[in-house]
Amino acid sequence: MESKIKELNEKLELAKLGGGQSRIDKQHQKKKLTARERIEYLMDEGSFEEIGALVTHRTVDFGMQNQKFYGDGVITGYGTIDGRLVYVFAQDFTVFGGALSETHAEKICKIMDMALKVGAPFIGLNDSGGARIQEGVRSLGGYADIFHRNVKASGVIPQISAIMGPCAGGAVYSPAMTDFTMMVEDTSYMFVTGPNVVKTVTNETVTSEELGGASTHSSKSGVAHTTSSNDIECLEDVKKLLSYLPQSNLEKPKDLPYDLGEETREQLMNIIPDHASKPYDMHDVIAGVIDEDSFFEIHKDYAENIIVGFARIGGKSVGIVANQPLFLAGVLDVNSSRKAARFTRFCDAFNIPLLVLVDVPGFLPGTDQEWNGIIVHGAKLLYALSEATVPKVTVITRKAYGGAYDVMNSKHIGADLNYAWPSAEIAVMGAKGASEIIFRKEIKASDNPEEKLLEKEAEYADLFANPYKAAERGFIDEVILPKDTRRKLIKAFTMLEHKEEVLPNRKHGNIPL
Ligand code: COA
Repeated sequence: MESKIKELNEKLELAKLGGGQSRIDKQHQKKKLTARERIEYLMDEGSFEEIGALVTHRTVDFGMQNQKFYGDGVITGYGTIDGRLVYVFAQDFTVFGGALSETHAEKICKIMDMALKVGAPFIGLNDSGGARIQEGVRSLGGYADIFHRNVKASGVIPQISAIMGPCAGGAVYSPAMTDFTMMVEDTSYMFVTGPNVVKTVTNETVTSEELGGASTHSSKSGVAHTTSSNDIECLEDVKKLLSYLPQSNLEKPKDLPYDLGEETREQLMNIIPDHASKPYDMHDVIAGVIDEDSFFEIHKDYAENIIVGFARIGGKSVGIVANQPLFLAGVLDVNSSRKAARFTRFCDAFNIPLLVLVDVPGFLPGTDQEWNGIIVHGAKLLYALSEATVPKVTVITRKAYGGAYDVMNSKHIGADLNYAWPSAEIAVMGAKGASEIIFRKEIKASDNPEEKLLEKEAEYADLFANPYKAAERGFIDEVILPKDTRRKLIKAFTMLEHKEEVLPNRKHGNIPL
């Protein structure tokens, strides 16, 4: 028996070394942790159980039969984060650059299947040179096996992808189909084709970082939901994100203990500027209604005219969608609509109540927007908020104009409680634009058109630049003082906790993609 135990220990020791010490050193020189170090940091101490440590590839071409490493470039298994079960894989760049072989993919699929059967989050730590070139189509098949499982698991268990090194070609599509893609600055990049192919096909000269680095994907493309400055911060973000989520679509997020205290927030009374065209930072409103320091922002640098993220209100996890008057006056455009729609659908799939904060002057006009399909993209947000059956609460802080009023979680599309601050202006459009249209003849005929316009503008504003017409119809449930907002929200979300709403039976809806 002793020799058998020795044999096992030797094999496991070899598995731990991955591609060997020199390649581990190289990984460290690049300021990256190894796959094992990443798992160790991510999981609760001593909780990780590895599955498939002794798997090797089956390739015999190109002398590969003589190059075998236990684990085959990916570490897979399960363990806990903050005491909750998760399944994880971490690609090991020290073994064939973490390239994906048939067996490598099989290992990932095995834990995906388990995660889906058991109902627990699935986390992928990506660091890979892509398809294992020596294996050809078998490797491509392995990717597709993963993609197929990503789709099956979508909306059933949370799926999170951390990108901690290269992620190119087909490899990008698994992260793209998971719920969140979190990138590390300077050491990670994602692209369908690299700079060399780009140069050949389009004659553009571009670096990997420009083409698909963390800053590109967090600000230009929106592919990355968060970025971090190093591996440790990225793993911390994964843990933080998980804290707002349930284990699966069959559960609700865990409430944190919260002792109610003085919930009035005087600072909210002074946020709205005197003039309707002056901007303010909606983050200040968010900070004034949530539990202290509980905001975890998603897509922070992308489509900044809308803010989305997770927070806690009275200990309960909520998803926040909020117009941001500080950028483009908070208009809805193609990117902000897509950003908010995707976030809304995630929250709805995983039983996370939604808070929508509204200050929206409408949709962004122009050929750029129309030709890029603002009609369809704006419809995504309208569809997502209409479709959501989780508790939905709206607070209109200032403008709610035109079609955007309907879209931003209005009563008419199924919001449960709609509040407005006294500063709310709920109308078809702003007073100036409205007066120029409906009083055009009167203004033109006047001796002093400018003065007439101002007079009519004031008349219109008096009538419509307030929340009371909407409140009279019951489209607004209550006009509240800003300082009472947090208190009202805590009560509202508690009251709505057991809300149940069932949509008509169907295969799936047809969201305008
Ligand atoms: N298949 C098989 N082995 C691969 C590989 C792949 N797709 N990508 C990298 N490797 C191997 C390298 O041969 C090298 O092996 P070694 O340690 O025995 O020398 C090791 O992984 C590390 O690669 P290296 O090129 O030295 O690392 P790098 O940091 O300089 O570059 C990449 C990383 C990903 C940019 C580079 O390896 C690359 O371009 N790989 C190919 C990407 C690709 O086209 N993939 C297929 C399409 S999806």
